[in-house]
Amino acid sequence: MGAKDLEPSGERQSTSGVMEGGGYYAAHSSPQEAYGEFGFRWLEEAAGEIPLPEADRPLLVADLGAAGGGNSLEPMRRAIAAYRARDPARQVEVVHTDIPSNDFSALFKLVEGSERSYLRLPGVYSYAAGRSFYERLFPDGALFLGWSSIAVHWLSQVPEPIPDQIYPGFAAGSVREALVARSRSDWEAFLAHRAAELRPGGRLIVLGGSRRDDDVSGAEGLMTMVYESLTSLVADGSLKAEELRRMTIPTWNRTAGEFAAPFAGGPLAESLELRRRTAKVLPDAFFAAFEKTGDAAAYRDAVVGFFHAAFEPSLWSALDPGRDASNMAAIVGAFRRGLGERVAADPAAASCTWHVEILDIARR
Ligand SMILES: C[S@@+](CC[C@H](N)C(=O)[O-])C[C@H]1O[C@@H](n2cnc3c(N)ncnc32)[C@H](O)[C@@H]1O
Repeated sequence: MGAKDLEPSGERQSTSGVMEGGGYYAAHSSPQEAYGEFGFRWLEEAAGEIPLPEADRPLLVADLGAAGGGNSLEPMRRAIAAYRARDPARQVEVVHTDIPSNDFSALFKLVEGSERSYLRLPGVYSYAAGRSFYERLFPDGALFLGWSSIAVHWLSQVPEPIPDQIYPGFAAGSVREALVARSRSDWEAFLAHRAAELRPGGRLIVLGGSRRDDDVSGAEGLMTMVYESLTSLVADGSLKAEELRRMTIPTWNRTAGEFAAPFAGGPLAESLELRRRTAKVLPDAFFAAFEKTGDAAAYRDAVVGFFHAAFEPSLWSALDPGRDASNMAAIVGAFRRGLGERVAADPAAASCTWHVEILDIARR
């Protein structure tokens, strides 16, 4: 990303509440790609252990929460290769899922066109399902293998706005309790649907954005700068206080205990087994590069681009619908400049230490 990318295009910004489309997320999601790599080994092992489909039936593999697909090609390619070491001629169906407003066109262009695409393997077919993973996606027992990377921390909805913040991790009191309750019911719904869809012996590898038991998710510094950038737009009159009040990033980073709770007992534990789990901490690669090169402008652009790709659509969806494209572009541009200045002024405070929980789940 260059400095001119801090300026928005004249087009109306995405208000869909998902990742930035048009391939932007795929090009600005290297942190998410790095977490994914943590799970590849478990995905390959699971692919080598799942049951074989009957006779000439294809193997169904799901990629849950795919965004633009940029970080899906490698895990899908690896899963297919690991499975086929045992059953080389098996046809494979890969279904990428995401919410309906996801940019599936960008995903299919990438899957079709990329040199790295698993579609270059023979006998592999690619599909998509535009439906929340908090709903049923596949018929009973149809799914053999699932992969979900850095997606299940997106909640089905935020129960109420977070007072004086946009990041749920800062919520306190009853607002926080409501977020924890929503996170619990979303996670249970996700697991219950997968329990119905997975074949006995089928496996699901989930990489979930997590937080430490002392409540640190690692993004607090950056999110504070984001909120300060937005409040300065309210102060200069370009953003309405009401719009800022509505802005929330609808995520909840679960603790290891919150991820593991449904497997400890109750109906989900009867059908699903948590075979293993591990916590990983990923230092900020953008900050590591900055420490090496001292290039504050490159660091600023990388951080602002990352935030744009993953979180800006959630913010801009709270703007008044009456705002026209050039007005939106002015707000977005001012926000990115303000955030960029803050990041460049205090690079260490903007750096994020990402916590990820990796879960290997089996259908009993
Ligand atoms: C940070 S991106 C991760 C994308 C990709 N898996 C990766 O590793 O880079 C999170 C994705 O989860 C999707 N997502 C959020 N809530 C979802 C839901 N309820 N159902 C399906 N996908 C969802 C978002 O739309 C987004 O594309």
